Amino acid sequence: MCGIVGIVGKEPVAERLVDALRRLEYRGYDSAGVATIHDGTMERRRAEGKLFNLEKVLDGEPLPGTIGIAHTRWATHGVPNVTNAHPHFVEGVAVVHNGIIENFSELKEELIAEGAVFESQTDTEVVAHLLAKYTREGLDHQAAMLAMLNRVHGAYALVVMFADDAGTIMAARSGPPLAVGHGKGEMFLGSDAIALSPFTNEITYLVDGDCAVLTAKGAKIMDFSGRPVTRKSQISQAATFLVDKGNHRHFMEKEIYEQPEIISHALSHYVDFAENVVKQPDAAIDFGSVSGLAISACGTAYLSGLVGKYWFERYARLPVEIDVASEFRYREIPLSKSQAALFISQSGETADTLASLRYCKDEGLKIGAIVNVKESTIARESDAIFPILAGPEIGVASTKAFTCQLAVLAALSIAAGRARGTITAEGERAMVKHLVEMPRIMSRVLNEVQPQIEALSREIARFKDVLYLGRGTSFPLAMEGALKLKEISYIHAEGYAAGELKHGPIALIDENMPVIVIAPHDRFFEKTVSNMQEVAARGGKIIFITDERGAAASKLETMATIVLPNVDEIISPMIFALPIQLLAYHTAVFMGTDVDQPRNLAKSVTVE
Ligand code: M6R
Repeated sequence: MCGIVGIVGKEPVAERLVDALRRLEYRGYDSAGVATIHDGTMERRRAEGKLFNLEKVLDGEPLPGTIGIAHTRWATHGVPNVTNAHPHFVEGVAVVHNGIIENFSELKEELIAEGAVFESQTDTEVVAHLLAKYTREGLDHQAAMLAMLNRVHGAYALVVMFADDAGTIMAARSGPPLAVGHGKGEMFLGSDAIALSPFTNEITYLVDGDCAVLTAKGAKIMDFSGRPVTRKSQISQAATFLVDKGNHRHFMEKEIYEQPEIISHALSHYVDFAENVVKQPDAAIDFGSVSGLAISACGTAYLSGLVGKYWFERYARLPVEIDVASEFRYREIPLSKSQAALFISQSGETADTLASLRYCKDEGLKIGAIVNVKESTIARESDAIFPILAGPEIGVASTKAFTCQLAVLAALSIAAGRARGTITAEGERAMVKHLVEMPRIMSRVLNEVQPQIEALSREIARFKDVLYLGRGTSFPLAMEGALKLKEISYIHAEGYAAGELKHGPIALIDENMPVIVIAPHDRFFEKTVSNMQEVAARGGKIIFITDERGAAASKLETMATIVLPNVDEIISPMIFALPIQLLAYHTAVFMGTDVDQPRNLAKSVTVE
């Protein structure tokens, strides 16, 4: 949440800071701001809402200066307005912040008692006041920074500038990520390497407890007591990713249609196409000898993990403990060193997932990261990295990352089954052949179902509530369908295990509640059809997402039946994910919501 940038350079920085913010807007878009120093004067421009509002302000009132910091906000403390927008200024100190200062209330009280006057409702402003106070008390800037860092608690990435020093930017990390970029005669700071990719690909990632002092000549990194520390720089691959919509209306649409190609690329990392076997995954986790798996993640990544649980248990006979990371991290789950733990995250920066990872690490488990961003904190803190290779996902609603996570989990569960002797060589070849065929089937499905789903979305848009049902791996998919629909169209939707229908949700069924049933013709088909009958008997409107065999077998009247090709169970979650993504997308487009940047959300959730 929140994107931050800083540049200490030789050319004017305002436009470059805004360019970098554009690449960070996925982290929040409640407000944006930029500050620079020019001729000894520090000035800022801020605007509520998306970045283009700030650009308009800057067009009217440009900011000169070759040093500056900038911010795009996802509001935590204080409503999204100009006063709460960063950078926060106090007596010649400018601060931008990503995260939460947990002890801000007590610090604020203390500062007010000493005469400080607060402008905003943010937690961040205490940082600026503390820095101003320590400077007033005679500390130099670095000492003031270290003194401030020793007073604040919580999760934060901070970038700071002082009006009387137009050659230095300071930064600190305790939780959310922060990358230092090395240029030629200029230095950069950003929440991620992609933000800095137009300027440099030489990146040093700060670790928790690092404080950095940047001048145009380089970076000095120390711990919070001022002891120098050494962090290696690396060449980031971020610049190789092209971030544009191509011919698509939205990033989400582009990302949905990219899936066949991207999944094929991802699979090539895990599957030997010539032999139809899975490749040996990262050896740091020995799936053959572990006693069980713990899986933790948030949102869509959690739902892919839930599908993974079905696969690991069925194909590799490996028991899986899984929970959303915000619960997992506090449950004090009894874990054993003989288990391995997998953390799934597109961004690799989700705060709760990272905290769950650290909990498992402390318990002595081997850690595996299923991540999209290979340079992320979760990846860096893991023993084994299983990249999903989806490329940058810009739409806030996760689509291609979800199916790539599923593809990786499918390959890993087959590899685990082979290592544990629960899958025969013949079984492995058959399953891998299905995986190999998957991209072609995905292309076909995307082309074939699109017109029907676009038309159906106009019907769905009329309703206030939608229920999704599924069994087996279609149950997590039902929850994913509901999550996708609610987050971008704002229609209330719930995903239920079809068998749970009569334990409560059936009371909701009437003609105003469409029920979307995901039911490939698998082991559970008959049972799911019985549940559909229960819905039909109560006047519920059914949207049936099934395959050719399922459509032929069911005689029920539906509001719509979406027929997909018959596919094997191992690939059905990836194939059935496509219509639910398209349905959410077209409904949102029809309703005119902000598809790529839905209200109140951010792509990377770096606070708990
Ligand atoms: O970056 P992560 O995969 O860790 O993010 C987890 C969730 O925040 C994310 O999947 C979220 O639920 C998406 N908006 C869903 O589309």
